[in-house]
Amino acid sequence: MSSLKWLFKYLKKYKWAAALALIFTLLQVLFVFAQPLLLGSFVDHVIKGGKFNLLWRYASFLICTLVLKEASTYIKQLCCERMSQGAILNLRNTLFDKLSKLDAEFFDHSRTGDIMARLTEDTEAVRMFISGSIPSFVLQICYIIVGFTVMFSVSIKLTLSLFVIAPFVAVLSFKWQSVRKSFMLIREASSEINSVTQENISGNRVVKAYGRENYELEKFEKANKKYFDKSMDYCFAWMKIGPPMNFCVSMTNVIFIGYGGYMLMKGALTMGQFTTVEGILWCIVQPMAAFVNIVMQYHRFVASSIKIRKLEDAEPKIKNHKVLIKDTFIDGKIEFKNVSFAYEDKKVLKTINFSVKPGQTIGIIGPTGSGKTTVVNLISRFYDVTEGAVYIDDVNIKNIDITTMRKHIAFAMQDIFLFSDTIEANIAYGVPGASHEDVVRVAKAADAHEFIMNLSDGYDTIIGERGVGLSGGQRQRLSLARALLKNPSILILDDTTSAVDMETEFFIQNTLNDEYSDKTKIIIAHRISSVKNADLILVLNNGYIIEWGNHEQLIKENGYYKSVCFDQLGDFNKAPGYKGNYPRFNVDFGGGI
Ligand SMILES: Nc1ncnc2c1ncn2[C@@H]1O[C@H](COP(=O)(O)OP(=O)(O)OP(=O)(O)O)[C@@H](O)[C@H]1O
Ligand SMILES: [Mg+2]
Repeated sequence: MSSLKWLFKYLKKYKWAAALALIFTLLQVLFVFAQPLLLGSFVDHVIKGGKFNLLWRYASFLICTLVLKEASTYIKQLCCERMSQGAILNLRNTLFDKLSKLDAEFFDHSRTGDIMARLTEDTEAVRMFISGSIPSFVLQICYIIVGFTVMFSVSIKLTLSLFVIAPFVAVLSFKWQSVRKSFMLIREASSEINSVTQENISGNRVVKAYGRENYELEKFEKANKKYFDKSMDYCFAWMKIGPPMNFCVSMTNVIFIGYGGYMLMKGALTMGQFTTVEGILWCIVQPMAAFVNIVMQYHRFVASSIKIRKLEDAEPKIKNHKVLIKDTFIDGKIEFKNVSFAYEDKKVLKTINFSVKPGQTIGIIGPTGSGKTTVVNLISRFYDVTEGAVYIDDVNIKNIDITTMRKHIAFAMQDIFLFSDTIEANIAYGVPGASHEDVVRVAKAADAHEFIMNLSDGYDTIIGERGVGLSGGQRQRLSLARALLKNPSILILDDTTSAVDMETEFFIQNTLNDEYSDKTKIIIAHRISSVKNADLILVLNNGYIIEWGNHEQLIKENGYYKSVCFDQLGDFNKAPGYKGNYPRFNVDFGGGI
């Protein structure tokens, strides 16, 4: 689909605005041309014909045409703005909607700065094309058609003489094709600047902590220089074409004065006709110069629309297929059957089998990078399994409506994200309209109430983006409270208590056991103390389940779990690595506990 055809999709809703804009453009043209025609007639009848009594009539006509021309221009511009702003409003909404539907894999491969540029710079380029270039193109075409018609009616020979410059203009216009490439490169460079800036804002503490300011500055300067170079390349490309084009266009004046003056002297043209043509000449000259700008804007529009359409056409891989379960309650039975998973080519989970009944607690433990988060990512369908299947309530999750499923799963993620909003709004994020009492209740359960009350505005305290202003443990507790408030059937806690002290962790564990005993709980941790009481503990290493069972069974097994447990810290990240062979088992574990 061409970029223009694509744009039409967003403009067709504004047909009435387009029609009005066209009508007022025609009126504008009419009143623009009325002026030189009036002037020509004025010269012939008033100045040369001596009918001075008509002077005031001409003057009033001229004023009327001026006022009407400006009024038409005003209304036309208003229609164009309505059309462009409306189309961009819809386009941005469409893009944002697409962004919210795209899955984790898309974001794994995209740079935030680049995505931001598509929603801001690129949509702005499209808006400028709609409100500036398209109306200008229509207007210039009208000027040319009416201009040439009037000029031909005055003098065919004089008009034809102006076409001498046509071949030069055609050749130069053709060369404008090269400019599109320049725009694409400028667009890439600008997105790079955005990305570096965005990363430096988000990661400014890391930059400072590692003293990498100069390195980041260099990186920015490099991106900035690239933008500068690409912009200069564009300037040079323009300079090769723009000034020669303007020169050619200006030559029409020379031709007119030379040949028109000659015709005037010979009496082939009246003074009034000469004045009229002189007044209309710009209508031929200006469009040619304006086309240079329009072509430039067009190429910018095409470059931006290609980027926007890439985002618009991106399809989420995680979709509803054959939905068997929708809008129903989920009990919370989870089963993995021969599940393997790879991020692109990198296989990170290998033949995972386990099963957990509603209300049970499962602990997933293992050293960093062993695949713990990946297991729970599969339960929420942030990614789809590469082999095997995940079942919830004995239904393959691919057959459960995604929204229904996620409604019953609450996820306190390892990578905590808090919005720059009040504490209360952050906790109530998943349950809009939750009462203050409920928010306080879950905050107490997550042992967050006390520290919240010590903040300047309590629950109304506004926290910075990503929870800046709070400690790691405080952010973890808010994230846990947010998950608890959702009152899910399945509660996933990914490393949620790693930054809290043992005492707090113990308190949270007890609360979960007492108040959330009917929920299926998946607790991911490094420390054995975090999962010791779970009904089933899976020990993951390098994508394999190497050991499983409850704490007592695992201790009896006398394997890796036991060795870590009896290690001073009971922490998988601090204990010696696993020395066994993979996989530890080949049989289908299936049966659960
Ligand atoms: N989005 C991703 N794209 C590619 N590889 C990934 C991605 N996320 C994780 N990995 C890789 O998958 C493996 C398992 O990662 P995962 O996050 O599941 O580990 P983990 O056990 O949760 O580790 P940790 O204890 O540090 O949180 C790691 O080797 C990691 O590098
Ligand atoms: Mg993890």
